Amino acid sequence: MKKFILILILLSDSAFSQNSIHIIPEPVSLQTLSGEFVLTKDVKVNIPNSNAEVRNVVQLFVESLALPTGFQLNIIENIKFSPFKSINFILDENVLVSPDRYILEVSSKRINIKASSAQGMFYAIQTLMQLLPKQIESNSTQKIIWKIPSVNIIDAPRYGWRGVMLDVSRHFFPKEYIKKFIDQLARLKFNSFHWHLTDDQGWRIEIKSYPKLTSVGAWRVQRTGKWWEREPAKDDEERSYGGFYTQDDIREIVKYAQERYITILPEIDVPGHSLAVLAGYPEFSCGGGKFEVNAGVKFYKDVENTLCPANEQVYVFLDKVLGEIAQLFPNQYIHIGGDEAYKGYWEKSAECQALMKREGLKTMDELQSYFIKRVEKIVQSKGKRMIGWDEILEGGLAPNATVMSWRGMKGGINAAKQNHQVVMSPWEFVYLDLYQGDPAIEPATYGMARLKKTYSFEPTPRGVEGKLILGGQGNLWTESVPTTRHLEYMLYPRAFALSEVLWSQKEKKNWDYFTKKLETYFPRMDEAKLNYALSMYDAVVRTEKDGDGKLKIELSTEVNGLEIYYTFDGTNPDNYTPKYQGKLLEIPKTATTLKVITYQNGKPKGKQITLTMKDLQDRVGRYKMITEMLDE
Ligand code: ACM
Repeated sequence: MKKFILILILLSDSAFSQNSIHIIPEPVSLQTLSGEFVLTKDVKVNIPNSNAEVRNVVQLFVESLALPTGFQLNIIENIKFSPFKSINFILDENVLVSPDRYILEVSSKRINIKASSAQGMFYAIQTLMQLLPKQIESNSTQKIIWKIPSVNIIDAPRYGWRGVMLDVSRHFFPKEYIKKFIDQLARLKFNSFHWHLTDDQGWRIEIKSYPKLTSVGAWRVQRTGKWWEREPAKDDEERSYGGFYTQDDIREIVKYAQERYITILPEIDVPGHSLAVLAGYPEFSCGGGKFEVNAGVKFYKDVENTLCPANEQVYVFLDKVLGEIAQLFPNQYIHIGGDEAYKGYWEKSAECQALMKREGLKTMDELQSYFIKRVEKIVQSKGKRMIGWDEILEGGLAPNATVMSWRGMKGGINAAKQNHQVVMSPWEFVYLDLYQGDPAIEPATYGMARLKKTYSFEPTPRGVEGKLILGGQGNLWTESVPTTRHLEYMLYPRAFALSEVLWSQKEKKNWDYFTKKLETYFPRMDEAKLNYALSMYDAVVRTEKDGDGKLKIELSTEVNGLEIYYTFDGTNPDNYTPKYQGKLLEIPKTATTLKVITYQNGKPKGKQITLTMKDLQDRVGRYKMITEMLDE
């Protein structure tokens, strides 16, 4: 019997405990207890006195409760043994050494939040919000009983760098939305917001020394429709699509993020991706001529969108720009891009050739490395550290560079072997702009990173010194993301998966349990009026040819516990049409379409997928296309 009780206790502390408590990201330890704390308007919030930072964090918490609950909770100071029903914030520097650890204890009489810093308390609050009923996400007052189940939670992050990148160049998102985005990152205990502020399609930050960066570079012609298939600009058209953040906006957002323990990593992407610079300042190119901010027009490789490494004025420009950036952003790092620089014009440039001769540079990669090393010196002269995409490895790494590995893990592994720090951001796992379901029914984009793939991401490769891997990051490029609703659709639920990858202990990760937690998280998203994708419930359709050249079809699902039904006769499938039994399907001779749908517990769950015979043929041998990456 004792053994039995012990097993029960162990189970209740495991990731499998089937209770109503579903925290994302999964904490280090979660013990469910009997009973609950009921939040009422009389509950007191008790904080240590004379700690302004804790007061700020607690004030934010009280404010976030006010609208949905209708309660204006009182904050009291330094009551040792509160006689009231209370939420107690306790600074404990002995037990909880690192600033991001916390303990959260909920009993029927009190809630204790213990941490060695306000940051740890902030994380505890994010967990507490998930313990409250889903209506806590509502933006109107809800008349319900605000029960919080009794628990003991001990928690701390696995990685110190937990990032998400947002590209605001391809599509501009206004200041108010950026704040909402930061709120959402904070909820999932991310601590880094990488802000991709510049690219060929728009320069988005006011730089006082170079006003044309925004007066010209922030605006392009208005276009909709598929990215890369749009009409080029005509001379007489108004350049009215775009926008930028003023330096006051930036300061406001930086402060907002700081209050939520999010560091903003600004990216100024050079030497490539610089068309918006050249639109205002063509003299920074090697070839000269007229440049236009790109509006999603087909972009051939031979378009000059690079700064000229042989032009001293380019370094003066970067010194001024990065100087202003360093003043605006408290982050110790500045991201200088470094990716995908087209070097064709450098090859043709007499100045570049002369520079290479003078410096003894033999290849274009070495010329790029020369440029990046000079940029690192500029970054360091502003008191900052440089981070760049993994192309900065080419031709030799700058001495103190940190590498953000996006072309898979190999750049990061290579950098770590050279004793450089690394942030892992491999496209096949964490590019949040890629398809998350079947391309036949998803909005058009270019690659594949299903939720399960994102969840399987392991940032620390074997054989690499762990401490060099600072953490990881998901990247939301926005070529095909024109609206905030669609932004959220691409972000969720993959951001949930990523938060668990970066915060939770590796052994706590469990795909089945994670997908169950999402079931209870989605209604919270509905309350918050946030969009998200349900593609994880759709079927995965793969085709192959057998030895006789016959087309065969395999159906599967990401989420366990779904049934798959299909038809070949053009009718819509349901749970009365044939059920997929795990054996490859042969296609009836005269069939014209395959239609597939998933069910769960007798109810339709995923979206219906319709594929013609040609679609199916086209998929042959492109397993990766559907499960991982589309061939472009
Ligand atoms: C990148 O995706 N070009 C970093």
